[in-house]
Amino acid sequence: KSFLFNQLFDPKKNIPEGSHQYELLKHAEATLGSGNLRMAVMLPEGEDLNEWVAVNSKLSPFLYASFKIHIFYCSADNCNLTTAGKKYEYHWADGTNIKKPIKCSAPKYIDYLMTWVQDQLDDETLFPSKIGVPFKRNFMSVAKTILKRLFRVYAHIYHQHFDSVMQLQEEAHLNTSFKHFIFFVQEFNLIDRKELVPLQELIEKLTTKDR
Ligand SMILES: *[C@@H]1O[C@H](CO)[C@@H](O)[C@H](O)[C@H]1NC(C)=O
Ligand SMILES: *[C@@H]1O[C@H](CO)[C@@H](O)[C@H](O)[C@H]1NC(C)=O
Repeated sequence: KSFLFNQLFDPKKNIPEGSHQYELLKHAEATLGSGNLRMAVMLPEGEDLNEWVAVNSKLSPFLYASFKIHIFYCSADNCNLTTAGKKYEYHWADGTNIKKPIKCSAPKYIDYLMTWVQDQLDDETLFPSKIGVPFKRNFMSVAKTILKRLFRVYAHIYHQHFDSVMQLQEEAHLNTSFKHFIFFVQEFNLIDRKELVPLQELIEKLTTKDR
């Protein structure tokens, strides 16, 4: 694992050993190990889609967006706004604590975002890990919001920090992690097309090579 990745996200922490989700986690890790990212994201036969999306949301590769952003020289000074190129700027709101979107620096935005994501993953009523506990009806829409927001971290890194990524030789790693993320999102149509626009060219480049 790269030194970049935030240890905040430990999929095993959220998925108790011996549970069915733990078996799915093992399955996902094994197919990932095979190197075929397209296959690794597919719903295994006979499995429940909610459960599969829950496990994959907890699986660290999707959460590579939890890059330790400061090593890319992303700071309140350098990135006083959370941008992705000249055309896109993200404002933070979580709908509960912060209702009116606020402008903030990229590290602050990512801090809000990661804390919010972890809170969702920790919420047993949203992400039940015990057998027989049903998923709420709005589960998929929460999962989609999580992924939509994680995408913005990639958008920020690719647009504002790709030079540092290259200098640190983390380019291949970042590409693979993003590709995995995007394959998963595409497989189940989890992020609206218009949200993906800031990285559309990159997505086409990364995903058409190996269909
Ligand atoms: C962000 O930095 C720019 C350039 O240094 C400055 O002009 C601008 O006022 C700053 N904006 C905020 C919201 O701090
Ligand atoms: C990563 O993706 C970028 C954008 O497509 C590309 O320019 C670069 O060559 C890729 N690097 C590696 C190591 O895959």
